[in-house]
Amino acid sequence: MKISNTIESLRTVIKQWHQDGLQVGFVPTMGHLHAGHMELVNQAKLSCDKVVVSIFVNPLQFNEISDYESYPQSLAEDQKQLINVKTDLLFLPDNEMMYAANQQLTTKVCVPGISQVLEGECRPGHFDGVSTIVNKLLNLVQPQQAFFGEKDYQQLLLIRKMVNDLNIPVDIKSVTTHREVDGLAMSSRNSRLSKLQRGIAPQLYGVLKKLAERISNNELSIVKAEAEAVSDLKRAGFVPEYVSVRNGSTLHTADEKSANRRVLAAVRLGEVRLIDNISID
Ligand code: PAF
Repeated sequence: MKISNTIESLRTVIKQWHQDGLQVGFVPTMGHLHAGHMELVNQAKLSCDKVVVSIFVNPLQFNEISDYESYPQSLAEDQKQLINVKTDLLFLPDNEMMYAANQQLTTKVCVPGISQVLEGECRPGHFDGVSTIVNKLLNLVQPQQAFFGEKDYQQLLLIRKMVNDLNIPVDIKSVTTHREVDGLAMSSRNSRLSKLQRGIAPQLYGVLKKLAERISNNELSIVKAEAEAVSDLKRAGFVPEYVSVRNGSTLHTADEKSANRRVLAAVRLGEVRLIDNISID
């Protein structure tokens, strides 16, 4: 596996691959990799000739400094995993490289609408940070395909819209959420859960599945099913931020007659914030 620590060395390799007519796949990450990330790399390997992974904990997308400072990092272990799945190139930029002048003064990309609901409401500025860094990384890596997990469903829709609005020549591929055997969606933040919290965490998925069943079997209205889910989550020990049934393409609120519905949720478990989502229809 090649490792690029500079923009110049990354560009040299990518230029050669493009000249050779190779398809480049890209998996952007913030590191502390798990099986869900490996699945993204595996999917990229299946449809591309070369696969680039980036690891960069992007300060611009953290709305809480404590969350940024405690974001788990494990570069040596990440590298081993990436070599195992035959990653071709690991790009490791640093803050100075990505935000040379000053993070506050950098040009930002903002995706209106989709960035302002749900996660956007709870984490002001978060999605501007995500769209800005993903735009920069796409400009640097220039992949034909880029891979994102459905666990961050709103992020996936945001990136699709940005790529479409800004005519970026890349195909955005989504990969279904990778779950632990007990149903907990894989996330780098899971490693910050205590043993007790780790025991509670899978109930988030259980509550979402129950809500989806209640709605698809017409047992409860959407409003009542959302309220029941919030109570169930509180009883289990979570502090819910939202549980909301939305249209899976637009994230507009859904009603009983809508198609393509999806429930999205965010909760806090102690210091750790968890998100998850599943399709209803
Ligand atoms: O999903 C993530 O890990 C991050 O939001 C991303 C896409 C790598 C941008 O920093």
